[in-house]
Amino acid sequence: MSVTDPQPPAPDPRADAAQEALRDRIAADSLTTRRDYLRIVATVSGGLAVGGVAVASGILHRHGDSDGAPEPKKVADRIEPGESLAFRYPGDEDRAIAVRMDDGTLAGYSAVCTHLACAVLWRKERGSEGELYCPCHEGIFDARTGEVTAGPPPRGLPKVILVEQVDGSVWAIGTARSGESLVEGFCRQNGDDRPGCPGFGAGGPAGPAGPARKTAPSGPGPKAAERSERT
Ligand code: FES
Repeated sequence: MSVTDPQPPAPDPRADAAQEALRDRIAADSLTTRRDYLRIVATVSGGLAVGGVAVASGILHRHGDSDGAPEPKKVADRIEPGESLAFRYPGDEDRAIAVRMDDGTLAGYSAVCTHLACAVLWRKERGSEGELYCPCHEGIFDARTGEVTAGPPPRGLPKVILVEQVDGSVWAIGTARSGESLVEGFCRQNGDDRPGCPGFGAGGPAGPAGPARKTAPSGPGPKAAERSERT
């Protein structure tokens, strides 16, 4: 090499230090990004898990939870065979569904899926007599009993006790929990000493006066509930 050839630049210790600092910064940023990402994923997953557990364990409000008798409510002038009707009962936020099967059976249920609370729909054309269907995860409930027949729901649908008056109008008069019969739900909410309930006629000392009991239209009792369960 002659003395006139260009010489390679001497290493600049300040430039090296700057590059090193930049590499450290980039490495730190990517670590932070990964940590943040993992934290977000964990938070979302945790939230979903808590929500699922809350529904599954019954922390969230469910039909049939009330021990008192809800107010009777007229839900339809008439429901014809093959028809279904969405309504709210016992509260304005409580989605419910009534179905009339082809053989005349009238049944009422909570329309809130017992899995993760999606809306339950009536599919008349499915099976021999229709089914109640939750589209979120393919949950299926027996239209006659409300019990789970397929999919992930952990228990059957709570029931809405329906009675039909002579003029054909349909009334909701109470609710029953998952696995509880209509009569059990009616007696729990209206008092075990009602005609047709296990405690009727058992006597015993009079208890303290409580709030006046609600009376269903034309005074239907467990007989009406039984009729609704059977028909
Ligand atoms: Fe109904 Fe999952 S929410 S099956």
